[in-house]
Amino acid sequence: MSASRTQKADLDWRDGLVPVSRQFQDPYFSLADGMAESRHVFLAGNRLPERLTDGFQVAELGFGTGLNAMLLAQAWAGENRPGRISYTGFEAFPMNPDDMAQAHRAWPNLAGLSESLIAEWRAGTKQFALGGVDVTLVFGDGRQTMPAWDGVADAWFLDGFSPAKNPELWEPDLLRAVGEHTKSGGTFATYSAAGHVRSSLADAGFEVERTNGFGRKRHMTIGIKY
Ligand SMILES: C[S@@+](CC[C@H](N)C(=O)[O-])C[C@H]1O[C@@H](n2cnc3c(N)ncnc32)[C@H](O)[C@@H]1O
Repeated sequence: MSASRTQKADLDWRDGLVPVSRQFQDPYFSLADGMAESRHVFLAGNRLPERLTDGFQVAELGFGTGLNAMLLAQAWAGENRPGRISYTGFEAFPMNPDDMAQAHRAWPNLAGLSESLIAEWRAGTKQFALGGVDVTLVFGDGRQTMPAWDGVADAWFLDGFSPAKNPELWEPDLLRAVGEHTKSGGTFATYSAAGHVRSSLADAGFEVERTNGFGRKRHMTIGIKY
Protein backbone atom coordinates (compact mmCIF):
# COMPACT_ATOMS: atom_id res chain seq x y z
CA MET A 1 0.00 0.00 0.00
CA SER A 2 1.58 3.29 -1.09
CA ALA A 3 1.47 6.12 1.40
CA SER A 4 3.27 8.73 -0.63
CA ARG A 5 0.45 11.18 0.10
CA THR A 6 -1.12 11.28 3.53
CA GLN A 7 -4.41 9.45 3.11
CA LYS A 8 -7.10 9.05 5.73
CA ALA A 9 -7.78 5.75 7.45
CA ASP A 10 -10.77 3.92 5.98
CA LEU A 11 -12.56 1.93 8.68
CA ASP A 12 -15.09 -0.74 9.50
CA TRP A 13 -16.16 -1.39 13.09
CA ARG A 14 -16.38 -4.60 15.09
CA ASP A 15 -19.09 -4.40 17.77
CA GLY A 16 -19.11 -0.62 17.22
CA LEU A 17 -15.92 -0.24 19.26
CA VAL A 18 -12.96 -1.89 17.56
CA PRO A 19 -11.79 -0.14 14.38
CA VAL A 20 -10.78 -2.46 11.56
CA SER A 21 -8.79 -1.05 8.66
CA ARG A 22 -10.45 -1.58 5.27
CA GLN A 23 -7.14 -0.79 3.56
CA PHE A 24 -5.26 -3.49 5.49
CA GLN A 25 -8.15 -5.80 6.49
CA ASP A 26 -6.84 -5.92 10.04
CA PRO A 27 -8.08 -4.64 13.44
CA TYR A 28 -6.15 -1.86 15.21
CA PHE A 29 -5.81 -3.99 18.34
CA SER A 30 -7.02 -7.23 19.88
CA LEU A 31 -10.72 -7.80 19.40
CA ALA A 32 -10.78 -9.37 22.87
CA ASP A 33 -9.14 -6.63 25.00
CA GLY A 34 -7.05 -4.03 23.22
CA MET A 35 -6.01 -2.26 26.41
CA ALA A 36 -4.77 -5.39 28.18
CA GLU A 37 -2.95 -6.46 25.02
CA SER A 38 -1.19 -3.08 24.71
CA ARG A 39 -0.10 -3.14 28.34
CA HIS A 40 1.25 -6.66 27.98
CA VAL A 41 2.99 -6.21 24.64
CA PHE A 42 4.22 -2.63 24.55
CA LEU A 43 4.57 -1.58 28.18
CA ALA A 44 5.64 -4.83 29.86
CA GLY A 45 7.51 -5.89 26.70
CA ASN A 46 9.72 -2.80 27.08
CA ARG A 47 9.88 -3.15 30.89
CA LEU A 48 7.76 -0.05 31.39
CA PRO A 49 6.88 1.80 33.49
CA GLU A 50 9.88 0.60 35.60
CA ARG A 51 12.46 2.15 33.24
CA LEU A 52 10.72 5.50 32.82
CA THR A 53 12.69 8.50 34.05
CA ASP A 54 12.80 12.18 33.20
CA GLY A 55 13.80 12.60 29.52
CA PHE A 56 12.96 9.01 28.52
CA GLN A 57 12.07 8.79 24.80
CA VAL A 58 9.50 6.37 23.38
CA ALA A 59 8.81 6.04 19.64
CA GLU A 60 6.09 4.12 17.84
CA LEU A 61 5.53 2.91 14.29
CA GLY A 62 1.75 3.19 13.81
CA PHE A 63 0.09 5.82 16.02
CA GLY A 64 -3.42 4.60 15.12
CA THR A 65 -5.98 5.51 17.78
CA GLY A 66 -3.33 6.77 20.21
CA LEU A 67 -4.13 3.94 22.65
CA ASN A 68 -0.48 3.09 23.28
CA ALA A 69 0.42 6.76 23.72
CA MET A 70 -2.40 7.21 26.25
CA LEU A 71 -1.40 4.08 28.16
CA LEU A 72 2.14 5.38 28.31
CA ALA A 73 0.89 8.70 29.70
CA GLN A 74 -1.26 6.88 32.25
CA ALA A 75 1.63 4.64 33.29
CA TRP A 76 4.01 7.60 33.67
CA ALA A 77 1.45 9.51 35.76
CA GLY A 78 1.08 6.45 38.00
CA GLU A 79 4.80 6.47 38.80
CA ASN A 80 4.73 9.93 40.37
CA ARG A 81 8.34 10.59 39.38
CA PRO A 82 9.64 14.07 38.63
CA GLY A 83 10.11 15.31 35.09
CA ARG A 84 8.61 14.60 31.69
CA ILE A 85 9.02 11.92 29.05
CA SER A 86 8.69 12.12 25.25
CA TYR A 87 6.76 10.09 22.72
CA THR A 88 7.02 10.28 18.91
CA GLY A 89 4.37 8.53 16.84
CA PHE A 90 4.70 7.82 13.10
CA GLU A 91 1.48 7.50 11.11
CA ALA A 92 0.67 7.34 7.38
CA PHE A 93 -3.13 7.09 7.49
CA PRO A 94 -4.47 9.34 10.26
CA MET A 95 -7.95 8.58 11.55
CA ASN A 96 -10.59 11.21 11.35
CA PRO A 97 -11.25 12.67 14.82
CA ASP A 98 -14.80 11.31 15.11
CA ASP A 99 -13.50 7.80 14.45
CA MET A 100 -10.79 8.28 17.05
CA ALA A 101 -13.40 9.44 19.57
CA GLN A 102 -15.55 6.42 18.73
CA ALA A 103 -12.62 4.02 19.35
CA HIS A 104 -11.83 5.73 22.66
CA ARG A 105 -15.35 5.03 23.97
CA ALA A 106 -14.17 1.54 24.86
CA TRP A 107 -11.84 2.97 27.53
CA PRO A 108 -13.71 5.15 30.05
CA ASN A 109 -10.70 5.08 32.40
CA LEU A 110 -8.71 7.01 29.77
CA ALA A 111 -11.41 9.68 29.36
CA GLY A 112 -9.26 12.63 30.49
CA LEU A 113 -6.33 11.73 28.24
CA SER A 114 -8.71 10.95 25.38
CA GLU A 115 -10.33 14.38 25.66
CA SER A 116 -6.92 16.13 25.47
CA LEU A 117 -5.72 13.97 22.58
CA ILE A 118 -8.87 14.43 20.53
CA ALA A 119 -8.84 18.20 21.05
CA GLU A 120 -5.24 18.35 19.76
CA TRP A 121 -6.05 15.93 16.93
CA ARG A 122 -9.04 18.05 15.80
CA ALA A 123 -6.84 21.15 15.88
CA GLY A 124 -4.20 19.36 13.77
CA THR A 125 -1.47 19.98 16.34
CA LYS A 126 1.65 17.88 15.86
CA GLN A 127 3.36 18.67 19.16
CA PHE A 128 1.46 18.79 22.41
CA ALA A 129 1.43 17.59 26.00
CA LEU A 130 -0.55 14.50 26.96
CA GLY A 131 -0.33 14.65 30.73
CA GLY A 132 3.37 14.32 31.53
CA VAL A 133 4.28 13.15 28.03
CA ASP A 134 5.51 15.49 25.29
CA VAL A 135 3.98 14.05 22.14
CA THR A 136 5.27 14.60 18.60
CA LEU A 137 3.35 13.23 15.62
CA VAL A 138 5.05 12.60 12.29
CA PHE A 139 2.69 12.02 9.37
CA GLY A 140 3.61 10.24 6.15
CA ASP A 141 4.98 6.86 5.16
CA GLY A 142 7.15 5.61 8.00
CA ARG A 143 9.62 4.20 5.49
CA GLN A 144 10.56 7.77 4.63
CA THR A 145 9.72 9.73 7.76
CA MET A 146 11.31 7.44 10.36
CA PRO A 147 14.81 7.17 8.87
CA ALA A 148 14.76 10.99 8.53
CA TRP A 149 13.83 11.47 12.21
CA ASP A 150 16.53 13.20 14.25
CA GLY A 151 15.67 11.40 17.51
CA VAL A 152 16.90 8.27 19.26
CA ALA A 153 14.55 6.19 21.37
CA ASP A 154 14.95 4.36 24.66
CA ALA A 155 12.00 2.16 23.75
CA TRP A 156 10.10 1.33 20.56
CA PHE A 157 6.51 0.18 20.09
CA LEU A 158 6.50 -1.65 16.74
CA ASP A 159 2.78 -1.70 16.00
CA GLY A 160 2.11 -1.90 12.29
CA PHE A 161 -0.74 -4.11 11.12
CA SER A 162 0.24 -7.75 10.73
CA PRO A 163 3.41 -8.23 8.68
CA ALA A 164 1.46 -10.30 6.14
CA LYS A 165 -1.02 -7.46 5.54
CA ASN A 166 1.20 -4.41 6.12
CA PRO A 167 4.68 -5.54 5.01
CA GLU A 168 5.74 -1.89 4.49
CA LEU A 169 6.11 -1.29 8.24
CA TRP A 170 8.26 -4.40 8.69
CA GLU A 171 10.71 -3.97 5.83
CA PRO A 172 14.33 -4.82 6.73
CA ASP A 173 15.52 -1.30 5.79
CA LEU A 174 12.97 0.32 8.09
CA LEU A 175 13.81 -2.04 10.97
CA ARG A 176 17.49 -1.30 10.40
CA ALA A 177 16.64 2.40 10.77
CA VAL A 178 14.81 1.54 14.03
CA GLY A 179 18.07 0.00 15.27
CA GLU A 180 20.01 3.10 14.25
CA HIS A 181 17.51 5.29 16.11
CA THR A 182 17.77 3.33 19.37
CA LYS A 183 20.09 4.15 22.25
CA SER A 184 22.51 1.52 23.42
CA GLY A 185 20.58 -0.52 26.00
CA GLY A 186 17.30 0.63 24.40
CA THR A 187 14.51 -1.84 23.66
CA PHE A 188 11.68 -2.69 21.29
CA ALA A 189 8.52 -4.74 21.69
CA THR A 190 6.07 -6.07 19.13
CA TYR A 191 3.13 -8.46 19.18
CA SER A 192 4.54 -10.11 16.04
CA ALA A 193 6.58 -13.28 16.23
CA ALA A 194 7.12 -13.56 12.46
CA GLY A 195 10.51 -15.13 11.69
CA HIS A 196 11.53 -12.49 9.13
CA VAL A 197 10.69 -9.69 11.59
CA ARG A 198 12.86 -11.31 14.25
CA SER A 199 15.77 -11.82 11.89
CA SER A 200 15.56 -8.25 10.53
CA LEU A 201 15.61 -6.91 14.09
CA ALA A 202 18.61 -9.10 14.92
CA ASP A 203 20.34 -7.70 11.81
CA ALA A 204 19.43 -4.22 13.07
CA GLY A 205 21.58 -4.73 16.18
CA PHE A 206 19.09 -6.08 18.71
CA GLU A 207 19.42 -9.13 20.91
CA VAL A 208 16.05 -10.61 20.06
CA GLU A 209 13.92 -12.80 22.29
CA ARG A 210 10.64 -14.59 21.63
CA THR A 211 8.38 -14.42 24.66
CA ASN A 212 4.78 -15.12 25.69
CA GLY A 213 2.18 -13.31 23.62
CA PHE A 214 -1.13 -11.89 24.77
CA GLY A 215 -4.29 -13.98 24.92
CA ARG A 216 -4.52 -16.43 22.08
CA LYS A 217 -1.23 -15.29 20.53
CA ARG A 218 1.38 -17.74 21.75
CA HIS A 219 4.40 -15.57 21.10
CA MET A 220 5.55 -11.98 20.71
CA THR A 221 9.02 -10.48 20.30
CA ILE A 222 11.14 -8.20 22.45
CA GLY A 223 14.73 -7.06 22.12
CA ILE A 224 17.52 -4.97 23.52
CA LYS A 225 20.09 -3.00 21.53
CA TYR A 226 23.60 -3.99 22.40
C1 LIG B 1 -2.20 -1.83 14.39
S1 LIG B 1 -2.43 -0.15 13.96
C2 LIG B 1 -1.68 0.76 15.27
C3 LIG B 1 -2.50 0.87 16.53
C4 LIG B 1 -1.98 1.94 17.46
N1 LIG B 1 -0.65 1.73 17.93
C5 LIG B 1 -2.92 2.30 18.57
O1 LIG B 1 -2.46 2.47 19.73
O2 LIG B 1 -4.10 2.46 18.29
C6 LIG B 1 -1.22 0.10 12.67
C7 LIG B 1 -1.03 1.54 12.26
O3 LIG B 1 0.05 1.62 11.32
C8 LIG B 1 -0.28 2.61 10.36
N2 LIG B 1 0.52 2.41 9.14
C9 LIG B 1 0.38 1.45 8.20
N3 LIG B 1 1.33 1.57 7.24
C10 LIG B 1 2.09 2.63 7.57
C11 LIG B 1 3.23 3.25 7.00
N4 LIG B 1 3.77 2.82 5.84
N5 LIG B 1 3.79 4.31 7.64
C12 LIG B 1 3.26 4.76 8.82
N6 LIG B 1 2.17 4.21 9.41
C13 LIG B 1 1.59 3.17 8.81
C14 LIG B 1 -1.76 2.39 10.15
O4 LIG B 1 -2.39 3.48 9.55
C15 LIG B 1 -2.24 2.14 11.58
O5 LIG B 1 -2.59 3.33 12.21
